[in-house]
Amino acid sequence: MTVADCFPHEDKFPHEEIAERRKWILRYAKKGGVGAEFGVFRGHFSAVIGRVLKPKKLYLVDPWEKLGERFNWGNGNYTNNNQLTTAQAKADALRRTQHLDNIEIIEDFEENFLTSLTEKLDFVYLDSSHHYDDVVRTLPMIDKALAKGGVIFGDDWYSNPKHYSGVCRAVNEFVKKADYEIVAAGYDAQFCIRRAGDIEYTHQFGTPALDEKF
Ligand SMILES: C[S@@+](CC[C@H](N)C(=O)[O-])C[C@H]1O[C@@H](n2cnc3c(N)ncnc32)[C@H](O)[C@@H]1O
Repeated sequence: MTVADCFPHEDKFPHEEIAERRKWILRYAKKGGVGAEFGVFRGHFSAVIGRVLKPKKLYLVDPWEKLGERFNWGNGNYTNNNQLTTAQAKADALRRTQHLDNIEIIEDFEENFLTSLTEKLDFVYLDSSHHYDDVVRTLPMIDKALAKGGVIFGDDWYSNPKHYSGVCRAVNEFVKKADYEIVAAGYDAQFCIRRAGDIEYTHQFGTPALDEKF
């Protein structure tokens, strides 16, 4: 598949701009660790994670074509009114991340990946399903795979119960139940949690944990 095949349309959604805005949340993970992004789509944020955190290993996990030909999320610019195929999204993600060292592309569901994983993760960026039940099911699985001092961060932190609040609700419940704490949450719907008191690595605002300014 060529680049032109990945982009058979004019891209009207500001994917790159949004991915750049979200990078502030990455300051809470250590650089050079082992991490994963669950829900890669076209790889816009994968490229930012790779550039900013320079992971020793970065797993990019997305079922893509296992979901079928299309994402079927309805009409909207995000998928060019459902014209974007899962194969095109995957090809675009591969193209967008091919310059990164130490990445492993996993075309599978996060639950399968976690079940077969044998090493610990320093961070997981959770941006797959945003449904409450899915997040409730996934967070304890991530917890089992998380290294000491590791963080879970992710997207779609909307606290208004009338608007798409499944992630926020599931994360808040998990934090209490599993003795985690919220490290940061808010801007651009990002959140970050870690085990309570697990401050193996803590980046405070203003320290040089990241080269990039925010
Ligand atoms: C919102 S998009 C991810 C956007 C991407 N993180 C970014 O910032 O550009 C959601 C992605 O989650 C993937 N997905 C859905 N169910 C999944 C699962 N169980 N495990 C991993 N990824 C999943 C979809 O295929 C889709 O590509």
